[in-house]
Amino acid sequence: MRRFNFAAVLLVGLSAIGQPLLAAQRNYDRQMSVAAHELGAPQISSVQLQLNHTMATLTAAHELNTAAVRLIRTAATSFDNAHRMFKLCPDQNVCDVPYSFPEAAMAHMNTTQLENAQKPTKEAGGYTQDGETAGNTSSSSQEPGDLLFQFIAHHLDKSLEQRDRSDTTSWGTVLDAGTGMHSLAWLVAQQKKTAKLVAVTASPSQAEALQQQFKDKLRPQDEILTGDWADSTFLSNFQADVIAADYLIGAIDGFSPYFQDRIFSRLVQHLKPGGWLYVVGLEPFSNSEPTSKATELLQQVARVRDACILLAGHRCYREYPQEWVHRQLEQVKCRMDASERWPNVYSARQVERQIQVGRDKLPFFPDTQLADEMAKYLDQLSQETRKPCSNDQTHSFGFDYVVCAEHQPESSS
Ligand SMILES: C[S@@+](CC[C@H](N)C(=O)[O-])C[C@H]1O[C@@H](n2cnc3c(N)ncnc32)[C@H](O)[C@@H]1O
Repeated sequence: MRRFNFAAVLLVGLSAIGQPLLAAQRNYDRQMSVAAHELGAPQISSVQLQLNHTMATLTAAHELNTAAVRLIRTAATSFDNAHRMFKLCPDQNVCDVPYSFPEAAMAHMNTTQLENAQKPTKEAGGYTQDGETAGNTSSSSQEPGDLLFQFIAHHLDKSLEQRDRSDTTSWGTVLDAGTGMHSLAWLVAQQKKTAKLVAVTASPSQAEALQQQFKDKLRPQDEILTGDWADSTFLSNFQADVIAADYLIGAIDGFSPYFQDRIFSRLVQHLKPGGWLYVVGLEPFSNSEPTSKATELLQQVARVRDACILLAGHRCYREYPQEWVHRQLEQVKCRMDASERWPNVYSARQVERQIQVGRDKLPFFPDTQLADEMAKYLDQLSQETRKPCSNDQTHSFGFDYVVCAEHQPESSS
């Protein structure tokens, strides 16, 4: 409903601005229709009057235009905020993230095309984008997220069994260090095995949304907390048996840029000796070689999307390779015990969604000419990807990974 009101206000505002501009155009046309040789002194003074009037109209139109640009910027900013909130919607799988009229109107303000106006998008995750959501891509039969969580559960159960710790609540206290609806839903479903659950996000609005979504499912001892790992006082004295860092690394730039090199030493402060750390991540796109025209285009779409995010003055996800995680874990005395990779599969819809992320950033470009050219390029990319990434085909590119490591603070390495 709020979306609809917003669109209505925008339309009324724009038509109010458009009317004087059209009037100015009509005056100009009338003036031009008077042949120069017919003019006597009275006509000249009348033309002079008209000229003055036209000048005044043009000045007013210019001022209105400036106001319209400001209005668009303000509307775009408030829309962006609203869009971010929608992205935090507790269940993004069912939330119709609004590619609705106001969003498309702003994205296409400098063109006249609104053909994507009603495009809904429902995929969870997709390849990385800006904002606060990331995660797994959809596969044909089973969500890779499920497979990744199953792998972690299997690894943890097996490791605890080897230590003769397969009693109830054997997972002990579990920290979800970068929580979200997927990891929290999975951990809530494992409550029989856990003694306590602490879920952390740096985003207060996400914490609130998760509180709402899981309010009937959390036990009294479970907590959803807002905090930043860059804050050295956050969660002091807290110790966990298991820590899950599920797509946390890639999202750090959005909250504490360049803290990635310190995140593992920060997390292991909260991990008991012998405790398990599970790191889930997306291998950066630039680390994978395209194997077909479609995957080449996929990589290009990701580059252009990130360029749009940067040109809008926003921050992109910054993913790190699995090898980088291995090196970091060694430095904080975590022994790598197992790891696994899952190829990512992309459908035409997911590719188009990434192009749309780029389009959504155009109103924030500092230069309208650049935004216009980028809009054309995005349309061209969309055309180009349409054939190799047609609806019934999916393309495998890059991978997500899980790294399982045991905290061994006493080890010599
Ligand atoms: C992409 S989401 C993780 C996906 C999530 N596990 C899920 O299942 O949907 C990244 C999470 O890491 C959190 N995060 C990023 N940087 C952080 C920081 N510096 N301190 C605390 N949390 C952070 C974000 O607030 C968000 O909750």
